Amino acid sequence: MMNPIQSFFFFFLSLICSTLSSPTLQMDALLEFKNEFPFSAPNPNASFDFSFSWWNTSTNHCSWKGVTCNANSGAVISLVLEDIVLNGSLKANTSLLKLQHLQNLTLCNCILRGEIPSSLGNLSHLMQLDLFNNDLVGEIPTSLGNLNQLTFMSFSSNNLTGHVPSSFANFNKLSNLDLSRNQFSGGDLPLILSNLTSLSELDLSSNHFKSKLPSNMSRLHNLKVFDVKRNYFLGNVPTSLFMIPMLLGVYLRGNQFEGPLEFGNTSASSRLVSLDLSSNNFHEPIPEDIFRFLKLETLDLSNNSFTGAISRSMSKLVSLRFLDLSYNKMEGQVPSFLWSLDTLTLSHNYFSSLEEVVVNGILVFKVDLGSNSLQGSFPLWICKSTLLLLLDLSNNHLSGSIPSCLMNSTVNILLRNNNLSGFLPDIFANATDVLYLDVSRNQLMGKLPKSLINCKYMHYLNLKGNKFNDTFPYWLGSLVSLRVLILGSNAFYGPVSSHVGFPSLKIIDISHNSFNGTLPQDYFVNWLEMSTVWVDYEGIRGSLYMGAINHTDSMDMMYKGVDTEFPLIFLGFKAIDFSGNKFTGRIPKSVGLLKDLRHVNFSRNAFTGSIPSSLAKLTNLEALDLSHNKLSGNIPRDLARLSFMSYMDFSHNLLQGPVPRSTQFQSQNCSSFEDNLGLYGLETICGPIHGPHPTPGDSHQSEEFSSEESEEVLSWIAAAIAFGPGVFCGLVIGYIFFTSQKHIWFMEKFGRNYPRGIITVG
Ligand SMILES: *[C@@H]1O[C@H](CO)[C@@H](O)[C@H](O)[C@H]1NC(C)=O
Ligand SMILES: *[C@@H]1O[C@H](CO)[C@@H](O)[C@H](O)[C@H]1NC(C)=O
Ligand SMILES: *[C@@H]1O[C@H](CO)[C@@H](O)[C@H](O)[C@H]1NC(C)=O
Ligand SMILES: *[C@@H]1O[C@H](CO)[C@@H](O)[C@H](O)[C@H]1NC(C)=O
Ligand SMILES: *[C@@H]1O[C@H](CO)[C@@H](O)[C@H](O)[C@H]1NC(C)=O
Ligand SMILES: *[C@@H]1O[C@H](CO)[C@@H](O)[C@H](O)[C@H]1NC(C)=O
Ligand SMILES: *[C@@H]1O[C@H](CO)[C@@H](O)[C@H](O)[C@H]1NC(C)=O
Ligand SMILES: *[C@@H]1O[C@H](CO)[C@@H](O)[C@H](O)[C@H]1NC(C)=O
Ligand SMILES: *[C@@H]1O[C@H](CO)[C@@H](O)[C@H](O)[C@H]1NC(C)=O
Ligand SMILES: *[C@@H]1O[C@H](CO)[C@@H](O)[C@H](O)[C@H]1NC(C)=O
Ligand SMILES: *[C@@H]1O[C@H](CO)[C@@H](O)[C@H](O)[C@H]1NC(C)=O
Ligand SMILES: *[C@@H]1O[C@H](CO)[C@@H](O)[C@H](O)[C@H]1NC(C)=O
Repeated sequence: MMNPIQSFFFFFLSLICSTLSSPTLQMDALLEFKNEFPFSAPNPNASFDFSFSWWNTSTNHCSWKGVTCNANSGAVISLVLEDIVLNGSLKANTSLLKLQHLQNLTLCNCILRGEIPSSLGNLSHLMQLDLFNNDLVGEIPTSLGNLNQLTFMSFSSNNLTGHVPSSFANFNKLSNLDLSRNQFSGGDLPLILSNLTSLSELDLSSNHFKSKLPSNMSRLHNLKVFDVKRNYFLGNVPTSLFMIPMLLGVYLRGNQFEGPLEFGNTSASSRLVSLDLSSNNFHEPIPEDIFRFLKLETLDLSNNSFTGAISRSMSKLVSLRFLDLSYNKMEGQVPSFLWSLDTLTLSHNYFSSLEEVVVNGILVFKVDLGSNSLQGSFPLWICKSTLLLLLDLSNNHLSGSIPSCLMNSTVNILLRNNNLSGFLPDIFANATDVLYLDVSRNQLMGKLPKSLINCKYMHYLNLKGNKFNDTFPYWLGSLVSLRVLILGSNAFYGPVSSHVGFPSLKIIDISHNSFNGTLPQDYFVNWLEMSTVWVDYEGIRGSLYMGAINHTDSMDMMYKGVDTEFPLIFLGFKAIDFSGNKFTGRIPKSVGLLKDLRHVNFSRNAFTGSIPSSLAKLTNLEALDLSHNKLSGNIPRDLARLSFMSYMDFSHNLLQGPVPRSTQFQSQNCSSFEDNLGLYGLETICGPIHGPHPTPGDSHQSEEFSSEESEEVLSWIAAAIAFGPGVFCGLVIGYIFFTSQKHIWFMEKFGRNYPRGIITVG
């Protein structure tokens, strides 16, 4: 039991303490803070299970989730809220300011809006300030420079603008600074950065910084990670940066740095593991000093203007796994030691030859030598590889034949645009892992090897622009993964009719061959993928699976009348191209089932009959080319409803009647309708004088026989049979006359001047 004096003394003591950090006041401040966000809600996606309703007076505030108190005084020293929807802003008078002992303020992923209040600079004990993946806007207040106890500061992934305040040069304890993914434009970075002597990790990536680096960075002797990628930094990279002994990673990708690049007298004890200088303006040969970074695992120098050959000294980098020198101006021989890396990307240079790998030295998974100047025959020793996920030799000058040893262990094979000749060898019996085969634009000939049927996971087969001379490989329809089949510009011949169907096909191009015969009306009924409209994320839907690698390849295709190169990774559309063959008969009505098509090309054949009105069901259609056929009747009126259509060509047919009215039709070139029998309503497209402009009366009657209606005629006939022979005969005579070749002959003969009213319907 205390005596009264003791009690009084105790009471007095606690009074003093409570005025400094009264637990009640601290709790009130937290409750006020909670009330500052009346629209807050739990985040349905959250890993951090939290609801503000748990902050209530039934428990001591020090036990509230996210709150940490000093064990003795009860003062709040840490407030950590992650993944909750605060959905409001920090006011200048925010009650956080009453939490004067706060050392750690973390409001991550909280949908915090508005500006950072300048008053936050009063929380002078803050050591960690983390406001990552919010919606903060405006500039950083200069007053934050007062927080000179900070060791960690992140404003990453907001929408902050303006300059980094010069007062940041006070942060002599700051170890982590992360301002990435904002819209900062500048500040006196040379001054600030060179003063941050405790800095260990710096991330300024993905902003609009336009600045130089400090000319001397040697005071940053603790720096491990230096990341300024995707900005507008310019000038030289100071040699002193690379001499920092702790340095592990340097990421300068996507700036405007330029040479000369000097790495200094880097000691052999350098710890540098990752160096990314890609997408800058460096030129001249790669300096030999770079090969002193003996611990280097990743080296990306792509997309600069480096010249010269690959130095043999690079073999000193025994830890190197990933090398990217693509998009430079390098030349000479590719040394054999590089085939022991994991990933070798040398595309878009002027390399002219490959040094033969003599021992079992091919360990590489991914080799991209595309778009170089490689000559001679296909390097046979590549067959020594045990597992190549990717071999890209496209756009070179390789000649001779494709070796029979190749395919066994290679998953993605890109040999596009070389001078390879002979047959495609029948070597796919064991090639079940092949996903992607592109031998387009070579001189290959003969029949397709039947062993391709074993490539049961094949996604992409491009044979375009060779001399393959075979019938339609309908048997490829059993490759249930096949997304893209391109046979265009070869010497394929004969009919394509088959009901196998291509269940996963998104793109088929059989253009410019000698396919002939008619397509059955139900030709497309089993083409399931094209019939399905996916609602999933566009980018994923578009990209083609290449197994465990990311690779950007492209394909070319006639699109909207122009030969267009598509990066496969963005290939979000579905297309059929049957153009430039010898097809006859009607365009299959079942094309209307392929609801997700964006691009349809039946041009330059000998299709007859009317345009199937079912095309109007392709609501995503962007381009329709039916030109250079013998199509007759009207342009179906419903095509005017296709609101994404931006390119169409109906020219050089036997079409007549009114051109449907819609913004899409009105914005076409006049030439898209030229050389037809009697299209009218073209004044706004072609102007009053130029182009095809028959007088509206010319084929007025036939308006009642737009192709949609001519299909209806068939059902009338059925109905008429039910009514009786008289009506039936009258209808049949009219219908036969309308659709007959005689009618077409009549139209050709008399053109737009044939007497109107000659077509009568019973
Ligand atoms: C939850 O995740 C979905 C899908 O990623 C996203 O669209 C939504 O904005 C997220 N909600 C919040 C509150 O973060
Ligand atoms: C108060 O918080 C506790 C957890 O701290 C929670 O279980 C309780 O449901 C809360 N009370 C109210 C009324 O929200
Ligand atoms: C934020 O609050 C507003 C009301 O002010 C509400 O309309 C909106 O849906 C809320 N946003 C989120 C992400 O909860
Ligand atoms: C804080 O400022 C807002 C205006 O920004 C004001 O409405 C509110 O009453 C102030 N609260 C306190 C506790 O002063
Ligand atoms: C602040 O909180 C974060 C998240 O809980 C924690 O990782 C960090 O160590 C804390 N920092 C300080 C200085 O207390
Ligand atoms: C960021 O701010 C800019 C203008 O300040 C605005 O155009 C942009 O939409 C904002 N972005 C986000 C993600 O809020
Ligand atoms: C750099 O930091 C020192 C303390 O380490 C400080 O005295 C000096 O003012 C800072 N420089 C600037 C320009 O703020
Ligand atoms: C192809 O691979 C199989 C198994 O992976 C192996 O048994 C066969 O010998 C290989 N053939 C050639 C020609 O390398
Ligand atoms: C396929 O593999 C088997 C053994 O796995 C082998 O005997 C055969 O020669 C291989 N065929 C080809 C064409 O490589
Ligand atoms: C295709 O091969 C056949 C014989 O199989 C031959 O008669 C024909 O001329 C070849 N066509 C072309 C274009 O090479
Ligand atoms: C298709 O072309 C072949 C020659 O390639 C010919 O023999 C055949 O008669 C043609 N068929 C039709 C229906 O025109
Ligand atoms: C492929 O790229 C995506 C997006 O850039 C990335 O998330 C993924 O990790 C990459 N995969 C591989 C195997 O590199």
